[in-house]
Amino acid sequence: MTTRQRVLSGIQPSGKLTLGNYIGAMKNFVALQHEHDCFYMIVDLHAITVPQDPAALREQSEAVAALFVAAGLDPTQASIFMQSHVPAHAELGWLLTTMTYMGELERMTQFKDKSEGKEAVGAGLFVYPSLMAADILLYRSHLVPVGDDQKQHLELTRDLAGRFNHRYGETLVVPEPFIPKVGARIMSLDDASKKMSKSSPNAGSFITLLDTPDEIRKKISRAKTDLGRDVLFDVQNKPEVSNLMTIYAQCSGQTLEQIQATYEGQGYGAFKKDLAEVVVQALEPLQSKYKDIRASGEIHHILREGAERANTVAEVTLREVKEAMGFLPRGGH
Ligand code: AMP
Ligand code: TRP
Repeated sequence: MTTRQRVLSGIQPSGKLTLGNYIGAMKNFVALQHEHDCFYMIVDLHAITVPQDPAALREQSEAVAALFVAAGLDPTQASIFMQSHVPAHAELGWLLTTMTYMGELERMTQFKDKSEGKEAVGAGLFVYPSLMAADILLYRSHLVPVGDDQKQHLELTRDLAGRFNHRYGETLVVPEPFIPKVGARIMSLDDASKKMSKSSPNAGSFITLLDTPDEIRKKISRAKTDLGRDVLFDVQNKPEVSNLMTIYAQCSGQTLEQIQATYEGQGYGAFKKDLAEVVVQALEPLQSKYKDIRASGEIHHILREGAERANTVAEVTLREVKEAMGFLPRGGH
């Protein structure tokens, strides 16, 4: 029997969720929910590290929450909530910001990518990893299911937990990343050297979870392939096709070997045609469930219950953290 562990992860409500988010993170959220004590949140406080239109933020927050449920998260098993509904995130975020070194933040590749070439960069974007550490440490999480691009943030979180415990006594749990072996980095359809990202200016480079079947077929038929015609998994020499094969494997449940055998001698055309149908079929149940959830309005209730459970856990940790640091407790009776 595996012991029950605490699991926490988050996704930003900025733009639409992609197949990369689904394969790299959400599939594992779902896989972990029955065996562990899971907290999954929509990180709206992180989203505002770049400017957000209020109406769009509201809509996207609700959409991402509904996508969590549509993707298979069961709100009776996992707590689903908005980060901003649990005030302890912002508070522990500040406490940990004071313990994070400038040099550590300067090294973060996500900050470098997001700030590159921009004239005005908000300070929130810079201190974002300290807030992410607070998200994780508040729940004394053991496992954090994320895609490959979050590894560096997880490392910092581990360092901060260790630093805190060293300075103030054993208080926080040092978490482990939970990164899938296949699919931790789904690449862009127009360039396999870049990760698939919803912020790409080329909408043809990513598939969103709510793309229509025709949009999916069009994007996959235009996806870049490599020289030659063989459907072979070889990341070095065939990065584009290997990425498409990873998507195929993750959406169909087949192994890369099975896919390779199926398309032997058939060329890219037949493979891409089937891949489009595999993706359409994988997303179809999610999309119909999504429509039902949005129409029912039940998401507000789910988020309220999730936030209640999350607050209960988070408040205890925050109180212990503040006590360990020497903050005067609030007087009571
Ligand atoms: P974000 O959309 O940046 O909030 O990412 C949410 C989660 O999806 C994180 O765990 C990311 O690591 C993961 N993720 C985002 N893009 C990809 C991708 N292209 N491949 C795999 N995982 C991804
Ligand atoms: N930084 C993550 C991303 O951009 C989102 C995130 C915020 C997160 N807080 C988290 C992920 C806590 C895991 C755990 O994808």
